[in-house]
Amino acid sequence: MGSHYVHGSAPSERARLGLMNEILNAPCRRELALAGHERVLDVGCGPARFAAELCDAHPGVTVLGIERDAAQRESARACARPALEVRAGDAYELPLRAEEWGTFDVAWARFVLEHVDDPLRVVRQMVRAVRPGGRVVLCDDDHDLFRLDPPAPAALRVWEAYQQTYREHGNDPLVGRRLPRLLHEAGARPARATWVFFGSCAGAPDWRLVNDNWRGILEGARGQVERHLQPGEFERGLDEHARWVERPDASHWLPLAWAEGRVGA
Ligand SMILES: C[S@@+](CC[C@H](N)C(=O)[O-])C[C@H]1O[C@@H](n2cnc3c(N)ncnc32)[C@H](O)[C@@H]1O
Repeated sequence: MGSHYVHGSAPSERARLGLMNEILNAPCRRELALAGHERVLDVGCGPARFAAELCDAHPGVTVLGIERDAAQRESARACARPALEVRAGDAYELPLRAEEWGTFDVAWARFVLEHVDDPLRVVRQMVRAVRPGGRVVLCDDDHDLFRLDPPAPAALRVWEAYQQTYREHGNDPLVGRRLPRLLHEAGARPARATWVFFGSCAGAPDWRLVNDNWRGILEGARGQVERHLQPGEFERGLDEHARWVERPDASHWLPLAWAEGRVGA
């Protein structure tokens, strides 16, 4: 059993996580819809930028972020807030003190379950961490839902190879569609499912950001992705994408799965 994080934590990858936060944090904050007084557990908090934004947006909120990777925790120091604690630890065995279990109003994980080979074990830990009546909120990828229009088959081929890097480590690149099922199996009551949009179209203000992030995902994992491609296919795919991005009629579609469960009564 393990958790293989294909992207690592090199400075370029941490910069890409910054891009991703820029695009997604506002819609995710809207969906999370905190009342403003909650104690939040952020599992696999990465650079803790989202956690810091929650603290800034809601002065009554406190966040405990759990992060396994030392380089990510180091980045999180730039997001230090009095209401934010980032603690070293593994999502499989949350490093909570005895008196902390069963007390969080919200346990949240974004882009973490796709990187572990036993997501149910993580969700069980999250359910255990939440108080009766609290929420477990999951947001993750379903890579199969990615579409480019007009079609860019060489780019899509690289995306498929990228998904193979998940499977070779026992991780599920389609975990997004399983989120309500995981909540149910972990003992929470699925109560809501929706999408957060991670796409764009030519002419929109975030067009470059969205496509740079997509490219950054693949470039960051290049060595592993290339193992599932013929020689030259990686470059062909990214070259095709670079030309495609310049089209005035192009659109990039990637919905992120979002599911929430209630704990206890
Ligand atoms: C794609 S990043 C997402 C970071 C953050 N949740 C966000 O949405 O900005 C995934 C993070 O999960 C962390 N991670 C992966 N497996 C983990 C585990 N088993 N325990 C704790 N953290 C883990 C990685 O180190 C990485 O920082």
